[in-house]
Amino acid sequence: MKSVFNRRDFLTAGAALAGSLMMPTAFAATRERVRIGMIGTGMRGQVLLQELLRRDDVEVVALCDIEPIMLGRALKQVEKSGKAKPKTFGEDRDPQAYKRMLDAGTLDGVIIATPWEWHAQMAIAAMQAKVPVGCEVVAGVTLQDHWDVLNTQLKTGTPYMLLENVCFRRDVMAVLQMVRSGLFGELIHLQGGYQHDLRAVKFNSGDPAKPYGGGVEFGAKGWSEAKWRTEHSVQRNGELYPSHGIGPCAMYTNINRGNRFTRINSFATKARGLHDYIVKQPGGAASPNAKTQFKLGDVVTTTLACENGETILLQHDTSLPRPYSLGFRVQGTDGLWMDVNNSIHIEGKSKPHQWEDFQAYQDKYDHPLWRKHAKDAEGAGHGGMDFFVIQSFIEALKARAPMPIDIYDAVTWSAITPLSEQSIAQNFQTLDFPDFTAGAWKTRKPIFAL
Ligand SMILES: NC(=O)c1ccc[n+]([C@@H]2O[C@H](COP(=O)([O-])OP(=O)(O)OC[C@H]3O[C@@H](n4cnc5c(N)ncnc54)[C@H](O)[C@@H]3O)[C@@H](O)[C@H]2O)c1
Repeated sequence: MKSVFNRRDFLTAGAALAGSLMMPTAFAATRERVRIGMIGTGMRGQVLLQELLRRDDVEVVALCDIEPIMLGRALKQVEKSGKAKPKTFGEDRDPQAYKRMLDAGTLDGVIIATPWEWHAQMAIAAMQAKVPVGCEVVAGVTLQDHWDVLNTQLKTGTPYMLLENVCFRRDVMAVLQMVRSGLFGELIHLQGGYQHDLRAVKFNSGDPAKPYGGGVEFGAKGWSEAKWRTEHSVQRNGELYPSHGIGPCAMYTNINRGNRFTRINSFATKARGLHDYIVKQPGGAASPNAKTQFKLGDVVTTTLACENGETILLQHDTSLPRPYSLGFRVQGTDGLWMDVNNSIHIEGKSKPHQWEDFQAYQDKYDHPLWRKHAKDAEGAGHGGMDFFVIQSFIEALKARAPMPIDIYDAVTWSAITPLSEQSIAQNFQTLDFPDFTAGAWKTRKPIFAL
């Protein structure tokens, strides 16, 4: 696939950000192609790799993973694409192998798609090595991780983007157009979340051929996310995966760009779903894992207050049977949109007290990027949005423009997790939300994707 993004899409954004995110001279001139490395070629890494391999403006020059099966699968993808074989790192299972890849001095950018506990240290090492970072959600685990990632970015000037793909969902972007055109009036309240039955992701048999379900193993005996993600449900109680929900809501409310989160609290229910799932699986009741105490409440509800008077409610709900839904709601003085019923109600346009089907609004307000690139996005992961998230990272790298989801967005969205854990641990206390921008939110301009 050719590089199809109009560079001006990003340069406009770049101009608006100049002054708040200075580019070091090392990143001064534009380029036609970029050399990319990947750390983590697991299930997600392979999806992102496919997007990279489709492009003729990207050379995948290095891959790093400490699981030889995952690394082998990624190499097969490259071979199938007919592209040159990348250098590989991590076959020796050395968890620090990624540092050798970063130090080789051959990368224009690196994508990090490893378990959460690795993101902050890998991003910091990459930024210190002057390798721009595209990091999978989340930015870090502890609050200190978030400050460390931010401070390293500010100190080194190395670009950093959080690869939050839901911001690029077609309806989410159309709603951004609606918000900006004033269709909802003044925004009042928003909702989103991560409502995704992950039980068959958190437990499997450990068989590399079957990453989803089919067993009750996790940790060392699990495979893919069951190897590491489940442990977070054992050890932590909070909004563990905020960015899919908060990313779009933060875009709509211009967080860090004229607005900011001021206060946060979280409530957690009891934890039943994961244990229930284990004992209902064949042989599950007899498994030692049936004795595991999970700390993560089945439904965690987080409320954020914003400087400009809006509230945002997030729900993390991954341990119970339910269909997938991010549960978006955008409500203003003139009406609201909810994605779960794909409906909208606008006073003066919709019949009083009735929902209208969203489709006509989707067609009218379709985002210019989607109008232009819908064909290119066909077949890409998650209904096309993975095309856009990779596209935006690569185009910003080529143009040496600021990242469309930048370091301030990354740490602000992702720090919701440790803050929500703290709130729950302190009996659901409401906490002050740190201002990672040190006051710059007052003057930064809305830029996302426009
Ligand atoms: N944006 C999305 O839609 C989306 C979807 C799925 C996953 N993710 C995120 O992507 C990340 C990866 O998830 P996944 O599903 O691919 O998990 P996974 O377990 O399938 O893959 C992670 C890979 O990282 C490798 N790894 C672990 N430690 C390493 C190290 N020190 N050096 C090199 N490689 C190392 C593992 O061997 C594994 O292959 C997570 O942050 C997850 O939350 C995002």
